[in-house]
Amino acid sequence: MQRDSFLSDDCPPMGIYETLYAFRDSFGAFMGSEGTHPWSQGFPLTTQLAGGPALPDSVDVTWEDRFYPKAWGHPLLREAIANHYNSFYGCKIAPENVMVFAGGRPGIYTILAFLKKHVEVRIGNVEWPAYLDIMTQTGSNWRVVPFTKENGFHPPNAAYFDRAGLNDKTHLLPIISNPGNPTGHTRCGAELEELMAMAEQPKNGILLDEAYEMFHASKGVSGIQYVKDLDNSNVFLAGACTKGLQSPGIRIGWVVASRKNIETMANYSSFGMGGVSHPSQLYAVKLLEPARVAQAREAVEKHYGMQRARYGEAFAQMGLRVYTGDGGFYHWMELPDGLNADEFNRRLFKRGAAILKGFDCDMARPHRKDPAYRSPYESFFRFSFGPLLPETFESDIALMRQVLDEYRG
Ligand SMILES: Cc1ncc(COP(=O)(O)O)c(C=O)c1O
Repeated sequence: MQRDSFLSDDCPPMGIYETLYAFRDSFGAFMGSEGTHPWSQGFPLTTQLAGGPALPDSVDVTWEDRFYPKAWGHPLLREAIANHYNSFYGCKIAPENVMVFAGGRPGIYTILAFLKKHVEVRIGNVEWPAYLDIMTQTGSNWRVVPFTKENGFHPPNAAYFDRAGLNDKTHLLPIISNPGNPTGHTRCGAELEELMAMAEQPKNGILLDEAYEMFHASKGVSGIQYVKDLDNSNVFLAGACTKGLQSPGIRIGWVVASRKNIETMANYSSFGMGGVSHPSQLYAVKLLEPARVAQAREAVEKHYGMQRARYGEAFAQMGLRVYTGDGGFYHWMELPDGLNADEFNRRLFKRGAAILKGFDCDMARPHRKDPAYRSPYESFFRFSFGPLLPETFESDIALMRQVLDEYRG
């Protein structure tokens, strides 16, 4: 007889992995292998973009790199990250405001794991599926901010800080991916300035997830530009080499925050993480070389801006309703005639393709599957053009159109 497991029975993989396993079972091969169409996948091209910089193909590793890393990050990388923000956004953060993690997710997980009990998270109704798992597993309290057709999947900043019905002791931490995954909606300019000013008010903070910082017409969008007093705030900015720097596999991400909050996270690293791989951090230093990043910003916006526009146009023409903002590398869409995204996906699986169901991005859904729950996003889905080469555009559109036409009957 199988013994009762000592570990949680409530730790399923992130929703997207369920899609990947269902895809494999239906198509007979893993998504990403030859002949598949990775429209459900959130990774960028990892090869050189037209006009973009080459990707480094080695790092030197010396005897010093085999030492234990510093809990808060390699001094060279912390400095490179601080310079990256200071030179592009005109801010003045110090290396002590930066903590390095093994990718974006561990940084976000750590912030939520150490939140005080009186801090309530505010999250958009449509956000990146991993947040729901992270909030659940860290025991966070959260309340959902409406994302509807009426508010264009882009509620006003004030909606995240609404104190109606709250006790005086409650403090608020919105979590916003900006540019947004899956919607592509982006707060920039005066709107972002207002958001950061609200986040610096007493009893407020923010976790602004800037994984898609470079994927916007401005070639870089960061709340840091508008932060007045980082060291006296609960502003957390999450960044990573994962998307714009095209290197998800090196597992380097970071959090920018007040020195006090960085110290708490570094203390955690000292007993719970042990720092991050030196070779990976040194690779990230190479990626962040300023002239290289300047070239990458241009190329990322050119390639992905072009892809966003032409896929969006073609999808609208075939009858999909496109609600995407002006950033990121996803389209957020609704199937016509109330068609169901789960069924649509099953039809795509047979042709070697898959999308991410809107249901998985619904932050109000129960974490454990409940057949009685009806999500408002069952006709919605996310299409990723992150990993797609320019050459596949025509065949992608033809395939999407064919499966949609068949489903519409
Ligand atoms: C909104 C968002 N934040 C952060 C990340 C970074 O993830 P990681 O660096 O852990 O792969 C991603 C990647 O999918 C993302 O979509």
